[in-house]
Amino acid sequence: LALHKVIMVGSGGVGKSALTLQFMYDEFVEDYEPTKADSYRKKVVLDGEEVQIDILDTAGQEDYAAIRDNYFRSGEGFLLVFSITEHESFTATAEFRSVGAEKSADGERPDDRGGGKLRASLGKPILRVKAEEDKIPLLVVGNKSDLEERRQVPVDEARGKAEEWGVQYVETSAKTRANVDKVFFDLMREIRAK
Ligand code: GTP
Ligand code: MG
Repeated sequence: LALHKVIMVGSGGVGKSALTLQFMYDEFVEDYEPTKADSYRKKVVLDGEEVQIDILDTAGQEDYAAIRDNYFRSGEGFLLVFSITEHESFTATAEFRSVGAEKSADGERPDDRGGGKLRASLGKPILRVKAEEDKIPLLVVGNKSDLEERRQVPVDEARGKAEEWGVQYVETSAKTRANVDKVFFDLMREIRAK
């Protein structure tokens, strides 16, 4: 039975856990309980083949960054999640993906920018723990698409960034379930194709 290991990454409160729980149990969780690290496993049928998906739901909150960074290594694919209602969470996707990698590559710590959120990812971002030459299975996910009236991140801006990285951009809602299966299944297809 093929096993696909997926890691949820992104700032605190963007909906990583809500997406995971909606995918796993068809439930929307209204309450916000910051995650430390939780893992889930489920059998699914991917294009006619039974496979197992392992989802590691990591912490966006700075307090748990050390735990999260240790887990990046174990992932085969990543859902890099932000909230369309919070521009700062979109900016942070680049940090999670690579900026920290470049900065810490020459042994230099980035300046304290005052906010904890951006620094959250600067330990071991995805590109640093994975060989940079490999194309890492990754989707950029703009969550909370049901909150269109509170949108702070234009679709074109997010899509442009994803194109630059050579990855797909998909908007989801953990509340309405829009595109929830799509992001997990598309990511599994990318992992399988590797
Ligand atoms: P950390 O575990 O701290 O990293 O946060 P998280 O990314 O796991 O966020 P979580 O899934 O806990 O969601 C945070 C809050 O946003 C909760 O109150 C959720 O109910 C809400 N939320 C998550 N996804 C959506 C969504 O698609 N639409 C709406 N309207 N609310 C959402
Ligand atoms: Mg969470």
